[in-house]
Amino acid sequence: MTAVTIRNLQDMKQATEKFACITAYDATFARLVSEAGAETILVGDSLGMVLQGRESTVPVSIGEMAYHTGCVARGNVRSMVIADMPFMSYSTVDLAMTGATELMQAGAHMVKMEGGLWLSDTIAKLVEGGIPVCAHLGLTPQSVNVFGGYRVQGRDPKEAKSILSDAVSIQDAGASLLVLECVPEELAADISSKLRIPVIGIGAGAGTDGQVLVMHDLLGLSQHIPRFVRNFMAGAPTVQDALAAFVAAVKSGDFPSNKETYQ
Ligand code: KIV
Repeated sequence: MTAVTIRNLQDMKQATEKFACITAYDATFARLVSEAGAETILVGDSLGMVLQGRESTVPVSIGEMAYHTGCVARGNVRSMVIADMPFMSYSTVDLAMTGATELMQAGAHMVKMEGGLWLSDTIAKLVEGGIPVCAHLGLTPQSVNVFGGYRVQGRDPKEAKSILSDAVSIQDAGASLLVLECVPEELAADISSKLRIPVIGIGAGAGTDGQVLVMHDLLGLSQHIPRFVRNFMAGAPTVQDALAAFVAAVKSGDFPSNKETYQ
């Protein structure tokens, strides 16, 4: 079984074939996610909430991310592993270089950072140094205290224009992937069609190239379930079946449905 690389995701975008991403934080679940056929695994800083019981992702440290990235890398079979750079670990280019190096050496194939235009120099430097970058726009959870809550972004035309322009900036800076979170379907579809790089949506409708969900959400384990989540454990006899059902639903276009989408 050959390992998935960014080239496979680019080819899938060209072929309009959808791909799946699921978060994982340890070796066992990384193996299950990979065996379920998800092309990518995200070691999300959502681990601060779903593993550590914190109120947001803000307290998560680079050391914790490196620890979980190592666990995931050891369990992974063939998926591409993306690791989150936590809050403030990329506030300067130097900090980003040091933190991203730690995550890559722990076993990540790519690092993810929340932000747009302001990250251009950082993205360019990391890519120059051999570290592929996934950017994250829309609802960026590390900025929850700026947003004043977890709210849909890009509903007003000025905000939508700024998200699109940030998306173009991160692509121009050399980012390989983009995660778009909690934005209206039409905006996400527009951005996905305008970018060369693959776009992964979460709460961003069916028009993106790939879909990601937090594992605890899709297994129906989280206390607060957002509108864009489907419980794939409902009717599934095992966790393995639920993970495979998510992957199949993404690939067939069955997920997300209209009722799991923001307008
Ligand atoms: O941390 C995470 O799990 C994420 C997803 C919500 C995309 O960034």
